Amino acid sequence: MAKLGVNVDHIATIRQARGIDEPDPVAAAVLAELAGADGITVHLREDRRHIQDRDVEILRKTVKTRLNLEMALTDEMVAIALKLLPDSVTLVPEGRHELTTEGGLDAIQLRATLKQKIGLMKQAGIVVSLFVEPDIEQIKASHRVGADYIEIHTGTYCDAKLAANRSEQLQRIEVAIRAARKLGLGVNAGHGLNYKNIGPVVALGGIEEYNIGHSIVARASLVGMERAVREMLALLAGG
Ligand code: PXP
Repeated sequence: MAKLGVNVDHIATIRQARGIDEPDPVAAAVLAELAGADGITVHLREDRRHIQDRDVEILRKTVKTRLNLEMALTDEMVAIALKLLPDSVTLVPEGRHELTTEGGLDAIQLRATLKQKIGLMKQAGIVVSLFVEPDIEQIKASHRVGADYIEIHTGTYCDAKLAANRSEQLQRIEVAIRAARKLGLGVNAGHGLNYKNIGPVVALGGIEEYNIGHSIVARASLVGMERAVREMLALLAGG
C-alpha cells in the first residue's frame, strides 16, 4: 500500500487568518499520526504565509513518523534544512503571487544550483526529492543532479475537466513513474489530489508516497463541524 504524507499547511493558514495561536499545525500533525499518517509535510514559504519557523522547529522534535520539509531552492531555506535536519526535503518552485505551488521545478535549467545544494543536504543525511512535472527530460535531469526521489506534480491531471484530457494526463503520470523507477529514483506524488480523483492514480501503482494537504484539511473542517457545534451547545446548556 502507498504511504500517506499529510500536509498540515492549511491548519496554519486558518491560524494566520486570525493572527492568534490556534489551530496549531503541530497538534494537527499529532492527530494525523495517530490516525495512521506515514509522514508529515510542511511548506515553509519564503513569505511565511502559513507555516512559521517555530512550527518546523517544534515539528522536528515532535513528529514521530517522518518530517518532510517542502521549500524553495534558496540559500536561506537550505540553511534552515541543514540546521533542523528534516528527514526529507522536497524542493519546489515558489512564486510570491501564487496561491499554491503552480508547477514543477525546472531541473534542467537549475541543474548547477541543484547539484550543489542537493549535495550539501545529502551529506547531512537528508533525503532529497524534486517536485517535477511528469516529463521524461525533467526526470532524467532530476536523476543527473543527484535527487533520491521525484514527487510527480499531479496538478494538471487534477485540474483536467474533460475525460480525454484527464486520461492523457494520467498516461503522462504512468510513463513518468516507469521512467523514474527505471533510473532508480523513488517516486512520490502530490498536488490537487482529493477523495474523488486519487483512485485512478493509485491504480497505476509504483508511487511510494502521496503528499496531500488541502483536501484533507478541507474535509476535516466539515466532518468535524457537527462535533464542534455540539460541544459549544453543551457549554451553553451547562451555563
Ligand atoms: N506536494 C507539493 C510539492 C506541494 O507543493 C503541495 C502543496 O503545498 C502538495 C504536495 C499538497 O497539495 P494539496 O494541498 O493540493 O494536496
